[in-house]
Amino acid sequence: MYDFRIAAADKAELYRQLLSAADALTEGEPDAIANMANIAALVWESLPGLNWAGFYRNVEGELVLGPFQGRAACIRIPFGKGVCGAAAATLEPQCVDDVNAFPGHIACDAASVSELVVPIVGGDGRLIAVLDLDSPKPARFDEADVRGCLDLARLLGGRLGTVEKAAPES
Ligand code: SME
Repeated sequence: MYDFRIAAADKAELYRQLLSAADALTEGEPDAIANMANIAALVWESLPGLNWAGFYRNVEGELVLGPFQGRAACIRIPFGKGVCGAAAATLEPQCVDDVNAFPGHIACDAASVSELVVPIVGGDGRLIAVLDLDSPKPARFDEADVRGCLDLARLLGGRLGTVEKAAPES
């Protein structure tokens, strides 16, 4: 049983605890989908004020919905479209105070107002996925969230690659 109780007075400490839990949850597990599923659950449980938390994976140059927590969401997002597509196309985090003012924003859940999307890049420099956090509160995310989520993305960049286990010798 995993029972991570993450609670902290300041965001820097909150993200330190989140990162340490994410490290423990994904260490030694080569399955990217399993790792994304557990991280989506961990983020959802640990960060207050979210209405959606999850991943879009880079599948042959298109973002395709991955494991998440929250309401059912749009499945495919082209690079360059909306907040997730902007993060995928630029490989830069996108921190948006009000998505209604973001050109091309894709409204999956009408409740979403602010959004933070960070790219997850593998050791080869290729985009693996984006981590997408949505909140019904305007300007929910600040610099501390961007830094914390970038640290998480750095960890996941080494944990979400396809690692094939060697076949057992016969
Ligand atoms: N609003 C996002 C789409 C994904 S949903 O929020 C889950 C965007 O514009 O990228």
